Amino acid sequence: MSNTVSEIIANMVRDQPLRANVFERHQIDYCCNGKRSLEEVCVERGLDPKHLRAELEAVAPADARQSFATTALTELADHIVTRHHAYLRTNLPSIAHKAQRVLAVHGDKYAFLAELDRVFQGLSSELTQHMMKEEMVLFPLIGRLEKAEQEGQAPPSAPGGSIRNPIRMMEHEHDDAGRDLKSMRQLTSNFEPPAEACNTFRALYAQLEDLERDLHTHIHLENNILFPRAAELEQRLAGR
Ligand SMILES: [Fe+2]
Ligand SMILES: [Fe+2]
Repeated sequence: MSNTVSEIIANMVRDQPLRANVFERHQIDYCCNGKRSLEEVCVERGLDPKHLRAELEAVAPADARQSFATTALTELADHIVTRHHAYLRTNLPSIAHKAQRVLAVHGDKYAFLAELDRVFQGLSSELTQHMMKEEMVLFPLIGRLEKAEQEGQAPPSAPGGSIRNPIRMMEHEHDDAGRDLKSMRQLTSNFEPPAEACNTFRALYAQLEDLERDLHTHIHLENNILFPRAAELEQRLAGR
């Protein structure tokens, strides 16, 4: 890590994924909103860049977790599907079930639970559609790009003439998901359950916070590693 504070935070996490934990701790969005400098986020969060830098430097060495900067794109896309899409397919229904139970039992006392349920249902159905688009359109296109590279061919045709179009659409949907995560965090006072909350209530909050963590990693891998590398590959193939 260089000594300048004008580094892009998304790149800092791309180079060392464990730095994500530091940003999470300070509630700094490094995925959807990751194309900002360290300096900028420090001003926004009222943090001293020197302290944040020290925390970022203290994390484990780069090989503690795979950075995916040089992994084959199809391998990275497979990793996203088997790890993060599968996570959502397991957890979205189980969170929905808990949210409905908590709303039914405690909705009278805690009016925000109806809004929480509404935001979550919206996020859940958006994400389900979103994963389908990635798995049916964008990821197979990335596979064809990589195959074209191996075989010395021109880039495959993409919707609207460039892979940048479906990428832009996916990034836009990531922004929407990021907004939903933020509003769930606000509605639940940072996932802090009321003192007398029952176990289902607590489990719901814990699972929502875990969903946020997993989705941040997931979106980071796509927005900051997979998508830019795929767009660069397309450009390289078009120019040769
Ligand atoms: Fe995804
Ligand atoms: Fe995505």
